[in-house]
Amino acid sequence: MHHFQYRENELYAEEVPVRRIARKVGTPFYLYSAATLRRHYRVFDQAFKTLPHLVCYAVKANSNLAVLRLLAREGAGADIVSGGELFRALKAGIPAEKIVFSGVGKTAREIRLALKAGILMFNVESLEELKSIARIARKMKKKAPIAIRVNPDVNPKTHPYISTGLKENKFGLDVETAFKAYQLAKEDPYLEIVGIDCHIGSQLTQLSPFVEALRRIKAFLKRLATVGISVRYLDLGGGLGIVYGEEEPPPPEKYAQALIEELNGLSVTLILEPGRVLVGNAGILVTKVLYYKETPAKKFLIVDAGMNDLLRPAFYQAYHEIIPVLKKERPSIVADVVGPICETGDFLARERELPLVKPGELLAVMSAGAYGFVMASNYNSRPRPAEVMVNGEEFYVVRRRETYAKLVAGEKIPPFLG
Ligand code: LLP
Repeated sequence: MHHFQYRENELYAEEVPVRRIARKVGTPFYLYSAATLRRHYRVFDQAFKTLPHLVCYAVKANSNLAVLRLLAREGAGADIVSGGELFRALKAGIPAEKIVFSGVGKTAREIRLALKAGILMFNVESLEELKSIARIARKMKKKAPIAIRVNPDVNPKTHPYISTGLKENKFGLDVETAFKAYQLAKEDPYLEIVGIDCHIGSQLTQLSPFVEALRRIKAFLKRLATVGISVRYLDLGGGLGIVYGEEEPPPPEKYAQALIEELNGLSVTLILEPGRVLVGNAGILVTKVLYYKETPAKKFLIVDAGMNDLLRPAFYQAYHEIIPVLKKERPSIVADVVGPICETGDFLARERELPLVKPGELLAVMSAGAYGFVMASNYNSRPRPAEVMVNGEEFYVVRRRETYAKLVAGEKIPPFLG
Protein backbone atom coordinates (compact mmCIF):
# COMPACT_ATOMS: atom_id res chain seq x y z
CA MET A 1 0.00 0.00 0.00
CA HIS A 2 1.31 3.44 -0.88
CA HIS A 3 0.03 6.97 -1.07
CA PHE A 4 0.59 7.72 -4.76
CA GLN A 5 -2.90 7.53 -6.19
CA TYR A 6 -4.97 9.08 -8.95
CA ARG A 7 -7.75 11.47 -8.01
CA GLU A 8 -9.90 12.35 -10.94
CA ASN A 9 -7.20 11.31 -13.35
CA GLU A 10 -4.46 13.28 -11.70
CA LEU A 11 -1.65 11.66 -9.72
CA TYR A 12 -1.43 12.75 -6.10
CA ALA A 13 1.21 12.11 -3.48
CA GLU A 14 -0.86 11.98 -0.30
CA GLU A 15 -2.85 15.24 -0.48
CA VAL A 16 -0.67 17.01 -3.01
CA PRO A 17 -0.97 16.90 -6.80
CA VAL A 18 2.37 15.79 -8.23
CA ARG A 19 2.03 18.47 -10.91
CA ARG A 20 2.10 21.20 -8.29
CA ILE A 21 5.40 19.94 -6.92
CA ALA A 22 6.89 19.70 -10.42
CA ARG A 23 5.94 23.32 -11.09
CA LYS A 24 7.72 24.38 -7.93
CA VAL A 25 10.90 22.27 -8.07
CA GLY A 26 11.30 21.43 -11.77
CA THR A 27 12.09 17.96 -13.10
CA PRO A 28 13.39 15.35 -12.64
CA PHE A 29 12.86 14.83 -8.92
CA TYR A 30 12.42 12.03 -6.45
CA LEU A 31 9.28 12.23 -4.38
CA TYR A 32 8.84 10.38 -1.10
CA SER A 33 5.67 9.93 0.92
CA ALA A 34 6.09 10.26 4.67
CA ALA A 35 2.79 8.47 5.37
CA THR A 36 3.91 5.52 3.26
CA LEU A 37 7.29 5.35 4.99
CA ARG A 38 5.63 5.42 8.39
CA ARG A 39 3.12 2.80 7.40
CA HIS A 40 5.75 0.46 5.96
CA TYR A 41 7.91 0.77 9.04
CA ARG A 42 5.02 0.12 11.40
CA VAL A 43 3.71 -2.88 9.50
CA PHE A 44 7.19 -4.40 9.42
CA ASP A 45 7.97 -3.67 13.06
CA GLN A 46 4.55 -4.84 14.28
CA ALA A 47 4.94 -8.12 12.44
CA PHE A 48 7.69 -9.04 14.91
CA LYS A 49 5.96 -7.71 18.01
CA THR A 50 5.91 -11.06 19.79
CA LEU A 51 9.70 -11.20 19.82
CA PRO A 52 12.48 -9.07 21.22
CA HIS A 53 13.71 -7.47 18.01
CA LEU A 54 15.36 -4.45 16.47
CA VAL A 55 14.71 -3.12 12.98
CA CYS A 56 18.00 -1.77 11.64
CA TYR A 57 17.01 0.02 8.44
CA ALA A 58 19.54 -0.58 5.63
CA VAL A 59 20.66 2.99 5.05
CA LYS A 60 22.06 2.18 1.62
CA ALA A 61 18.54 1.86 0.20
CA ASN A 62 17.78 5.56 0.71
CA SER A 63 20.02 7.65 2.89
CA ASN A 64 18.33 11.03 2.71
CA LEU A 65 18.46 12.63 6.17
CA ALA A 66 14.72 13.26 6.18
CA VAL A 67 14.02 9.59 5.49
CA LEU A 68 16.47 8.59 8.21
CA ARG A 69 14.98 11.05 10.69
CA LEU A 70 11.46 9.81 10.00
CA LEU A 71 12.54 6.22 10.63
CA ALA A 72 14.54 7.24 13.70
CA ARG A 73 11.36 8.82 15.11
CA GLU A 74 9.60 5.50 14.54
CA GLY A 75 12.28 3.79 16.61
CA ALA A 76 14.43 2.33 13.86
CA GLY A 77 18.09 1.50 14.17
CA ALA A 78 20.40 1.38 11.18
CA ASP A 79 22.46 -1.06 9.18
CA ILE A 80 25.39 0.88 7.74
CA VAL A 81 28.18 -0.02 5.35
CA SER A 82 30.45 3.02 5.45
CA GLY A 83 31.69 5.92 7.51
CA GLY A 84 29.46 8.15 5.42
CA GLU A 85 26.40 6.15 6.37
CA LEU A 86 27.47 6.25 10.04
CA PHE A 87 27.72 10.03 9.77
CA ARG A 88 24.28 10.28 8.22
CA ALA A 89 22.63 7.88 10.67
CA LEU A 90 24.00 9.71 13.70
CA LYS A 91 23.18 13.10 12.21
CA ALA A 92 19.59 11.98 11.66
CA GLY A 93 19.32 10.99 15.32
CA ILE A 94 19.62 7.21 15.12
CA PRO A 95 21.25 6.18 18.41
CA ALA A 96 24.66 4.54 18.05
CA GLU A 97 23.54 1.63 20.19
CA LYS A 98 21.03 0.72 17.47
CA ILE A 99 23.59 0.71 14.64
CA VAL A 100 25.13 -2.38 13.08
CA PHE A 101 28.04 -2.06 10.66
CA SER A 102 28.14 -4.47 7.71
CA GLY A 103 30.38 -4.59 4.62
CA VAL A 104 33.47 -6.43 3.42
CA GLY A 105 35.83 -3.48 3.25
CA LYS A 106 35.68 -1.47 6.45
CA THR A 107 38.71 0.83 6.65
CA ALA A 108 40.69 1.50 9.84
CA ARG A 109 39.24 5.01 9.97
CA GLU A 110 35.69 3.72 9.65
CA ILE A 111 36.30 1.15 12.38
CA ARG A 112 37.71 3.84 14.68
CA LEU A 113 34.76 6.14 14.06
CA ALA A 114 32.25 3.37 14.75
CA LEU A 115 34.05 2.25 17.90
CA LYS A 116 34.20 5.81 19.13
CA ALA A 117 30.50 6.29 18.47
CA GLY A 118 29.69 3.12 20.41
CA ILE A 119 27.75 1.10 17.81
CA LEU A 120 25.83 -2.05 18.66
CA MET A 121 28.03 -4.40 16.63
CA PHE A 122 30.38 -4.92 13.71
CA ASN A 123 29.20 -7.58 11.30
CA VAL A 124 32.62 -8.99 10.51
CA GLU A 125 33.21 -10.41 7.05
CA SER A 126 36.79 -11.79 7.14
CA LEU A 127 39.50 -12.98 9.51
CA GLU A 128 41.67 -10.06 8.46
CA GLU A 129 38.91 -7.63 9.35
CA LEU A 130 38.47 -9.31 12.73
CA LYS A 131 42.17 -8.82 13.45
CA SER A 132 41.99 -5.26 12.27
CA ILE A 133 39.07 -4.49 14.59
CA ALA A 134 40.89 -6.15 17.53
CA ARG A 135 44.06 -4.15 16.84
CA ILE A 136 42.19 -0.85 16.66
CA ALA A 137 40.13 -1.66 19.76
CA ARG A 138 43.31 -2.42 21.71
CA LYS A 139 44.80 0.91 20.69
CA MET A 140 41.64 2.68 21.74
CA LYS A 141 41.43 0.65 24.97
CA LYS A 142 37.88 -0.33 24.07
CA LYS A 143 36.14 -3.63 23.65
CA ALA A 144 34.68 -4.04 20.16
CA PRO A 145 31.28 -5.75 19.96
CA ILE A 146 31.27 -8.19 17.05
CA ALA A 147 29.10 -10.61 15.13
CA ILE A 148 30.48 -12.84 12.40
CA ARG A 149 28.64 -12.71 9.13
CA VAL A 150 28.09 -16.28 8.10
CA ASN A 151 27.61 -17.12 4.46
CA PRO A 152 25.04 -19.91 4.65
CA ASP A 153 25.37 -20.87 0.97
CA VAL A 154 21.69 -20.56 0.23
CA ASN A 155 20.31 -19.63 -3.18
CA PRO A 156 18.07 -16.59 -2.72
CA LYS A 157 16.58 -17.03 -6.21
CA THR A 158 16.96 -13.39 -7.15
CA HIS A 159 19.02 -11.40 -9.68
CA PRO A 160 22.66 -12.63 -9.60
CA TYR A 161 23.96 -9.08 -8.94
CA ILE A 162 21.98 -8.91 -5.71
CA SER A 163 22.61 -12.44 -4.42
CA THR A 164 25.00 -12.37 -1.52
CA GLY A 165 24.64 -15.63 0.40
CA LEU A 166 26.11 -18.08 -2.11
CA LYS A 167 29.53 -19.56 -1.47
CA GLU A 168 30.97 -17.88 -4.57
CA ASN A 169 29.91 -14.41 -3.34
CA LYS A 170 32.39 -12.11 -1.61
CA PHE A 171 30.22 -11.72 1.49
CA GLY A 172 30.53 -13.31 4.90
CA LEU A 173 32.51 -16.36 5.96
CA ASP A 174 31.84 -20.01 5.23
CA VAL A 175 30.85 -21.93 8.34
CA GLU A 176 34.30 -23.45 8.92
CA THR A 177 36.08 -20.11 8.78
CA ALA A 178 33.29 -18.51 10.79
CA PHE A 179 33.82 -21.11 13.51
CA LYS A 180 37.51 -20.27 13.56
CA ALA A 181 36.68 -16.56 13.70
CA TYR A 182 34.46 -17.04 16.75
CA GLN A 183 37.19 -19.00 18.52
CA LEU A 184 39.73 -16.28 17.76
CA ALA A 185 37.32 -13.63 18.97
CA LYS A 186 36.69 -15.51 22.20
CA GLU A 187 40.38 -15.44 23.03
CA ASP A 188 40.81 -11.77 22.32
CA PRO A 189 40.33 -9.46 25.33
CA TYR A 190 39.43 -6.56 23.04
CA LEU A 191 36.64 -8.35 21.23
CA GLU A 192 33.23 -9.10 22.64
CA ILE A 193 31.11 -11.66 20.86
CA VAL A 194 27.57 -10.30 20.84
CA GLY A 195 25.93 -11.67 17.73
CA ILE A 196 25.74 -13.68 14.57
CA ASP A 197 24.78 -12.28 11.21
CA CYS A 198 23.77 -13.29 7.71
CA HIS A 199 22.24 -11.60 4.70
CA ILE A 200 21.55 -13.70 1.64
CA GLY A 201 20.38 -11.25 -0.99
CA SER A 202 17.89 -8.64 -2.01
CA GLN A 203 14.45 -8.55 -3.63
CA LEU A 204 13.61 -12.06 -2.45
CA THR A 205 10.09 -13.09 -3.34
CA GLN A 206 10.04 -16.45 -1.60
CA LEU A 207 10.27 -17.36 2.06
CA SER A 208 12.09 -20.65 1.74
CA PRO A 209 15.61 -19.19 1.30
CA PHE A 210 15.19 -17.09 4.47
CA VAL A 211 14.00 -20.13 6.41
CA GLU A 212 16.80 -22.29 5.03
CA ALA A 213 19.41 -19.67 5.99
CA LEU A 214 17.96 -19.44 9.49
CA ARG A 215 18.08 -23.23 9.84
CA ARG A 216 21.74 -23.24 8.95
CA ILE A 217 22.46 -20.43 11.38
CA LYS A 218 20.66 -22.33 14.12
CA ALA A 219 22.72 -25.45 13.44
CA PHE A 220 25.83 -23.32 13.57
CA LEU A 221 24.78 -21.77 16.89
CA LYS A 222 24.44 -25.27 18.33
CA ARG A 223 27.97 -26.00 17.24
CA LEU A 224 29.19 -22.76 18.82
CA ALA A 225 27.48 -23.73 22.07
CA THR A 226 29.61 -26.88 22.26
CA VAL A 227 32.69 -24.67 22.66
CA GLY A 228 30.99 -22.35 25.11
CA ILE A 229 30.13 -19.54 22.69
CA SER A 230 26.71 -17.92 22.70
CA VAL A 231 25.22 -14.77 21.20
CA ARG A 232 22.63 -12.20 22.22
CA TYR A 233 21.73 -10.96 18.76
CA LEU A 234 20.77 -12.89 15.67
CA ASP A 235 20.88 -10.60 12.65
CA LEU A 236 19.10 -12.03 9.63
CA GLY A 237 19.86 -9.16 7.27
CA GLY A 238 17.37 -7.66 4.85
CA GLY A 239 16.18 -8.78 1.48
CA LEU A 240 12.40 -8.98 1.55
CA GLY A 241 11.16 -8.14 -1.95
CA ILE A 242 8.51 -5.68 -3.10
CA VAL A 243 6.06 -5.45 -5.97
CA TYR A 244 7.51 -3.66 -8.98
CA GLY A 245 5.36 -5.42 -11.56
CA GLU A 246 4.14 -9.00 -11.53
CA GLU A 247 6.05 -10.40 -8.57
CA GLU A 248 4.19 -11.58 -5.48
CA PRO A 249 6.49 -11.28 -2.49
CA PRO A 250 5.17 -12.42 0.89
CA PRO A 251 3.88 -9.57 3.06
CA PRO A 252 5.93 -8.73 6.18
CA GLU A 253 3.43 -10.59 8.40
CA LYS A 254 4.07 -13.86 6.54
CA TYR A 255 7.81 -13.27 6.53
CA ALA A 256 7.80 -12.61 10.27
CA GLN A 257 5.58 -15.61 10.96
CA ALA A 258 7.94 -17.95 9.10
CA LEU A 259 10.97 -16.63 10.96
CA ILE A 260 9.29 -16.63 14.35
CA GLU A 261 8.20 -20.24 13.86
CA GLU A 262 11.69 -21.26 12.91
CA LEU A 263 13.28 -19.39 15.82
CA ASN A 264 11.05 -21.34 18.14
CA GLY A 265 12.00 -19.98 21.51
CA LEU A 266 15.68 -19.37 20.82
CA SER A 267 16.59 -16.72 23.36
CA VAL A 268 18.10 -14.04 21.19
CA THR A 269 17.12 -10.56 20.10
CA LEU A 270 16.34 -10.72 16.41
CA ILE A 271 17.83 -7.99 14.23
CA LEU A 272 16.45 -7.30 10.77
CA GLU A 273 18.00 -5.06 8.15
CA PRO A 274 15.17 -4.20 5.76
CA GLY A 275 15.87 -1.61 3.10
CA ARG A 276 13.76 -1.90 -0.02
CA VAL A 277 10.60 -3.13 1.71
CA LEU A 278 10.46 0.05 3.80
CA VAL A 279 11.32 2.66 1.20
CA GLY A 280 10.92 1.14 -2.29
CA ASN A 281 7.26 1.85 -2.82
CA ALA A 282 7.38 5.02 -0.75
CA GLY A 283 9.14 6.89 -3.56
CA ILE A 284 8.69 7.77 -7.22
CA LEU A 285 10.80 9.55 -9.78
CA VAL A 286 9.00 12.30 -11.66
CA THR A 287 10.30 13.10 -15.11
CA LYS A 288 9.21 15.26 -18.03
CA VAL A 289 8.85 14.09 -21.61
CA LEU A 290 11.25 16.02 -23.84
CA TYR A 291 10.69 14.49 -27.26
CA TYR A 292 8.90 11.75 -29.08
CA LYS A 293 11.07 10.12 -31.71
CA GLU A 294 10.20 7.50 -34.27
CA THR A 295 12.87 5.65 -36.21
CA PRO A 296 12.16 3.04 -38.88
CA ALA A 297 12.85 0.39 -36.21
CA LYS A 298 11.45 1.79 -32.99
CA LYS A 299 9.60 4.43 -31.05
CA PHE A 300 11.23 6.38 -28.26
CA LEU A 301 9.94 8.64 -25.53
CA ILE A 302 12.90 10.78 -24.55
CA VAL A 303 12.58 12.04 -20.99
CA ASP A 304 14.66 14.32 -18.79
CA ALA A 305 15.69 11.56 -16.33
CA GLY A 306 18.38 9.12 -17.33
CA MET A 307 20.40 6.21 -16.05
CA ASN A 308 22.43 8.68 -14.00
CA ASP A 309 19.25 9.47 -12.04
CA LEU A 310 17.84 5.93 -11.82
CA LEU A 311 20.35 3.23 -12.63
CA ARG A 312 18.30 0.13 -11.87
CA PRO A 313 16.78 -0.48 -15.34
CA ALA A 314 20.16 -0.12 -17.06
CA PHE A 315 22.11 -2.04 -14.45
CA TYR A 316 19.76 -4.91 -13.57
CA GLN A 317 17.25 -4.71 -16.41
CA ALA A 318 14.90 -3.89 -13.56
CA TYR A 319 11.24 -3.23 -14.27
CA HIS A 320 9.69 -0.02 -12.98
CA GLU A 321 6.10 0.82 -13.79
CA ILE A 322 5.78 4.14 -15.62
CA ILE A 323 2.51 6.06 -15.53
CA PRO A 324 1.40 9.47 -16.73
CA VAL A 325 0.86 12.10 -14.06
CA LEU A 326 -2.29 13.15 -15.92
CA LYS A 327 -4.54 10.41 -17.24
CA LYS A 328 -6.25 11.30 -20.51
CA GLU A 329 -7.69 9.57 -23.54
CA ARG A 330 -4.67 9.00 -25.74
CA PRO A 331 -3.57 6.48 -28.32
CA SER A 332 -1.30 3.86 -26.91
CA ILE A 333 2.17 3.09 -28.28
CA VAL A 334 4.91 0.58 -27.60
CA ALA A 335 8.10 2.52 -27.00
CA ASP A 336 11.38 2.66 -25.16
CA VAL A 337 11.51 5.31 -22.47
CA VAL A 338 15.04 6.66 -22.66
CA GLY A 339 17.09 9.39 -21.03
CA PRO A 340 19.46 11.99 -22.46
CA ILE A 341 22.68 10.07 -21.64
CA CYS A 342 24.97 9.01 -24.46
CA GLU A 343 24.68 5.28 -23.80
CA THR A 344 22.50 2.71 -25.46
CA GLY A 345 21.93 1.28 -21.99
CA ASP A 346 20.30 4.52 -20.90
CA PHE A 347 16.69 3.46 -20.63
CA LEU A 348 14.00 3.49 -17.97
CA ALA A 349 11.78 1.03 -19.85
CA ARG A 350 11.98 -1.04 -23.00
CA GLU A 351 9.22 -2.04 -25.38
CA ARG A 352 6.66 -0.66 -22.97
CA GLU A 353 3.04 -0.08 -23.80
CA LEU A 354 2.31 3.51 -22.85
CA PRO A 355 -0.09 6.29 -23.68
CA LEU A 356 1.37 8.63 -26.26
CA VAL A 357 2.22 11.49 -23.92
CA LYS A 358 3.25 14.81 -25.41
CA PRO A 359 6.48 16.73 -24.84
CA GLY A 360 6.16 18.72 -21.64
CA GLU A 361 3.95 16.12 -19.93
CA LEU A 362 5.02 14.39 -16.75
CA LEU A 363 5.61 10.72 -16.14
CA ALA A 364 6.00 8.98 -12.79
CA VAL A 365 8.48 6.13 -12.51
CA MET A 366 7.05 4.05 -9.68
CA SER A 367 8.77 2.11 -6.87
CA ALA A 368 11.85 4.30 -7.06
CA GLY A 369 12.29 4.99 -3.34
CA ALA A 370 14.94 2.29 -2.83
CA TYR A 371 18.28 2.27 -4.63
CA GLY A 372 17.17 5.29 -6.64
CA PHE A 373 18.74 8.57 -5.65
CA VAL A 374 21.50 6.79 -3.71
CA MET A 375 22.78 5.23 -6.93
CA ALA A 376 22.51 8.44 -8.94
CA SER A 377 25.65 9.91 -10.45
CA ASN A 378 26.83 13.00 -12.27
CA TYR A 379 27.58 11.13 -15.49
CA ASN A 380 27.40 13.43 -18.51
CA SER A 381 27.80 16.28 -16.00
CA ARG A 382 24.19 16.06 -15.04
CA PRO A 383 23.36 17.59 -11.68
CA ARG A 384 21.66 15.02 -9.47
CA PRO A 385 17.91 15.54 -9.10
CA ALA A 386 16.06 17.12 -6.21
CA GLU A 387 14.45 15.00 -3.51
CA VAL A 388 11.11 16.01 -2.08
CA MET A 389 9.10 14.62 0.81
CA VAL A 390 5.37 15.00 1.03
CA ASN A 391 3.60 14.87 4.37
CA GLY A 392 -0.17 15.21 4.16
CA GLU A 393 -0.89 18.52 2.48
CA GLU A 394 2.66 19.82 2.65
CA PHE A 395 5.78 19.10 0.70
CA TYR A 396 9.39 19.86 1.42
CA VAL A 397 12.52 19.83 -0.68
CA VAL A 398 14.69 17.48 1.37
CA ARG A 399 17.64 17.76 -0.99
CA ARG A 400 17.90 20.52 -3.49
CA ARG A 401 18.78 19.89 -7.09
CA GLU A 402 22.50 20.10 -7.63
CA THR A 403 23.81 23.17 -9.40
CA TYR A 404 26.46 23.43 -12.10
CA ALA A 405 28.70 25.08 -9.50
CA LYS A 406 28.31 22.01 -7.24
CA LEU A 407 29.37 19.82 -10.17
CA VAL A 408 32.83 21.37 -10.25
CA ALA A 409 33.17 22.20 -6.55
CA GLY A 410 36.34 20.51 -5.39
CA GLU A 411 37.94 20.46 -8.83
CA LYS A 412 41.00 22.60 -9.41
CA ILE A 413 43.04 23.59 -12.44
CA PRO A 414 46.70 23.13 -11.44
CA PRO A 415 49.04 26.15 -11.71
CA PHE A 416 50.98 24.71 -14.64
CA LEU A 417 47.80 24.97 -16.74
CA GLY A 418 47.46 28.59 -15.65
N1 LLP B 1 21.78 -5.83 4.79
C1 LLP B 1 22.86 -6.00 4.01
C2 LLP B 1 24.10 -6.51 4.60
C3 LLP B 1 22.79 -5.70 2.64
O1 LLP B 1 23.85 -5.87 1.87
C4 LLP B 1 21.58 -5.21 2.08
C5 LLP B 1 21.48 -4.86 0.68
C6 LLP B 1 20.49 -5.03 2.96
C7 LLP B 1 20.62 -5.36 4.30
C8 LLP B 1 19.17 -4.49 2.51
O2 LLP B 1 18.56 -5.30 1.57
P1 LLP B 1 17.06 -5.00 1.09
O3 LLP B 1 16.16 -5.22 2.27
O4 LLP B 1 17.02 -3.61 0.58
O5 LLP B 1 16.84 -6.00 0.01
N2 LLP B 1 21.11 -1.92 -5.66
C9 LLP B 1 20.34 -3.14 -5.69
C10 LLP B 1 20.18 -3.74 -4.32
C11 LLP B 1 21.49 -4.02 -3.62
C12 LLP B 1 21.29 -4.54 -2.23
C13 LLP B 1 22.55 -4.55 -1.49
N3 LLP B 1 22.46 -4.99 -0.13
C14 LLP B 1 19.01 -2.86 -6.36
O6 LLP B 1 18.78 -1.73 -6.80
O7 LLP B 1 18.19 -3.76 -6.51
